[in-house]
Amino acid sequence: MAPALTKPEEPQKTLKPTFILHRAPWRPPIAVSGEGIYLDLEDGRRIIDAVGGAAVACIGNGHPAVKKAMKEQIDKLSYVYSLQLSNQPAEELADYLVNSGNGAFELCTFVSGGSEAMEAVMKTARQYFYDTKQEQRVNFIGRQLSFHGNTLATLSLAHHPGRRAPYADILHVSNFHHVSPAYAKRFQRPDETEEDYVERLRKELEDKFLELGPDTVIGFVAETVVGATTGVVAPPKGYFKAMKSVCDKYGALFILDEIMSGMGRLGTLHAWEQYDGVAPDLQAVAKGLGGGYVSIGAVLMSKRIADGIRDSSGFWKHGHTYQAHPIATAAALAVQRVITGENLLSNIRTQGALLGKLLNERLLSSKSPLAPFVFDIRGTAGWWAVEFDFDEPSPNKPAVDLKGGTFGLLVQQRCMEKGLVIMGFHGGSNAEGTKGDHLMFSPAYNVKEEEIIKIVDIFIEGAEEVFSEIVV
Ligand SMILES: Cc1ncc(COP(=O)(O)O)c(C=O)c1O
Repeated sequence: MAPALTKPEEPQKTLKPTFILHRAPWRPPIAVSGEGIYLDLEDGRRIIDAVGGAAVACIGNGHPAVKKAMKEQIDKLSYVYSLQLSNQPAEELADYLVNSGNGAFELCTFVSGGSEAMEAVMKTARQYFYDTKQEQRVNFIGRQLSFHGNTLATLSLAHHPGRRAPYADILHVSNFHHVSPAYAKRFQRPDETEEDYVERLRKELEDKFLELGPDTVIGFVAETVVGATTGVVAPPKGYFKAMKSVCDKYGALFILDEIMSGMGRLGTLHAWEQYDGVAPDLQAVAKGLGGGYVSIGAVLMSKRIADGIRDSSGFWKHGHTYQAHPIATAAALAVQRVITGENLLSNIRTQGALLGKLLNERLLSSKSPLAPFVFDIRGTAGWWAVEFDFDEPSPNKPAVDLKGGTFGLLVQQRCMEKGLVIMGFHGGSNAEGTKGDHLMFSPAYNVKEEEIIKIVDIFIEGAEEVFSEIVV
């Protein structure tokens, strides 16, 4: 039998020393190689990655076309500095991305990841108003229970209570404001229709504009589908149209963060295509752009932004040393060609539908001990979440004792021991970030049917085992 993974409570002395300050409170096992959705660990085990790291590895590890493109690029040109020289793969990738928006975008620029992309979005939005002589615009409106990155400005823009907490006292507060999330299943009132709920949210945004002074607002910023905080929460119908109408009315920008939801994760290249088809003025993408082969993000700009900047300063005032890196852009271009060339959006729509069907069948069956605790199973194409609710006991819900742990993390750990990587989260069901447990699945777009079945089998086994240990 394969050796078990190290659990957080196991003595650290059995492990080799590490000089990395790791992100998890336990020592993560060491991966040595990967192939498709499989990862091989130093301890000899082969595990399945059902979440692509963090919705990143969208075509799995080791794709020959990407490896070839990266090797060829290294042989040709490894680095130029973007203030001095552009490069061929960056120009080609920009062409591809701008044309992927069916007219929504006119220019694009590159950075090295998601947080950098959202920082760049904010600075580009501000530059647009600075260049177009509206310097009084200084306020961003984000949403509670959102996540836009781990830098100080992106933590300020977003509202992820757990990730903000240690830094709350040094975050920017005067330029960043928040309105309610769009999470109907949790926050739509029983006496409201979907239209009423959207109208309440629209009005709240308009009231926030009026409170701040409408001509001081730079833009409203949202994840098209929310990821790390609430877990694959899509907006109600008409929501983005309503929110954009407020931005348009007061001349502010409508800005979308598609770092997790974009580049095919939801079965279309841009997630907004599925939600009212409302294109943003500015958009950030990252994870599915480089598919984990390289560190890359991009900012996509509409004609309005492009014209505003081209007609004044004419250049981007923001930048980093590694932006538009030739190897990163060559790899990302290859990843995008694999997605289109192998028809992977169609595959992930099919396999995602199977994943959703199996999760529903297995978790909600009359035999499932977890059924009474399943609050929601949601998602589409390559992105799914299961949300559990242990907070409100009812006659058919036995009491549980989580012993100070959180169900999401316990299931994540148990699945890891069983050879399955998924992500567990806590705190997505109230604005304070103290309640709610969900687990997230985001497999590679080239995942196969038998792999989906295996993922669900291991997940159900892990979740039921954890449950049997906490039920009182
Ligand atoms: C919606 C969203 N925005 C921004 C980020 C930050 O990206 P990165 O971790 O690459 O800095 C993430 C990462 O999970 C994300 O999900």
